[in-house]
Amino acid sequence: MSTVSITTPSTDDPAFPASVPARESDAITGLGAQAGLERLPQRDLSPQELRDLAAAVAARRELWDGGLDFSGGERHYVSLYRDAHVDVWVLCWNPANDTGWHDHDISSGAVAVVEGSLVEHNLTIGRPPVSTEVGAGRVFSFGPDHIHRLTGQAPGTVSIHAYSPPLWRMGQYVIDDGGVLHRVSVSYADELRPLDDVPETPDTRAVPAAIPA
Ligand SMILES: [Fe+2]
Repeated sequence: MSTVSITTPSTDDPAFPASVPARESDAITGLGAQAGLERLPQRDLSPQELRDLAAAVAARRELWDGGLDFSGGERHYVSLYRDAHVDVWVLCWNPANDTGWHDHDISSGAVAVVEGSLVEHNLTIGRPPVSTEVGAGRVFSFGPDHIHRLTGQAPGTVSIHAYSPPLWRMGQYVIDDGGVLHRVSVSYADELRPLDDVPETPDTRAVPAAIPA
């Protein structure tokens, strides 16, 4: 009889690379030449198309420069564009800002970092958690299957976020006192309210909410 050894791989082990969007980021430079808010195809966009759109918007500082605000210490966000198929935001981050774990329901998304740096965290089970710093000049995208958490890394970080279809409902993940994970569906409008107003189920505590992110 043969024996089978079972090991718990590390996410840093090259034999078990963590394939997560932030680790597959692209340089903003060179992307987006054929993309832009003026060239939207009037249909939902793929993650790759969102990557190009976020890169194109990131390259045009005049589109988002007026929305920057780092006062108050909270994550600041301004809608740059929204139609039936896509929405685009500029976000300002301080190092203390934390979106908490969340998904984007049926939306795909892309994040382009234009100043500073963010960290994307990926939730794992049975393996060490994965976190990846994404610096200025990089863009990554993801599908609706993606769950992540974003935190500010450098003071004065600015990022461009694009989603398709536009964010409407999102999943916020909470952990109860017994350590059991729950998903709380929150609306686009809920996200704009302070954390204390995010609905909680009995016996759960909310990790910081974050949308857009
Ligand atoms: Fe997100």
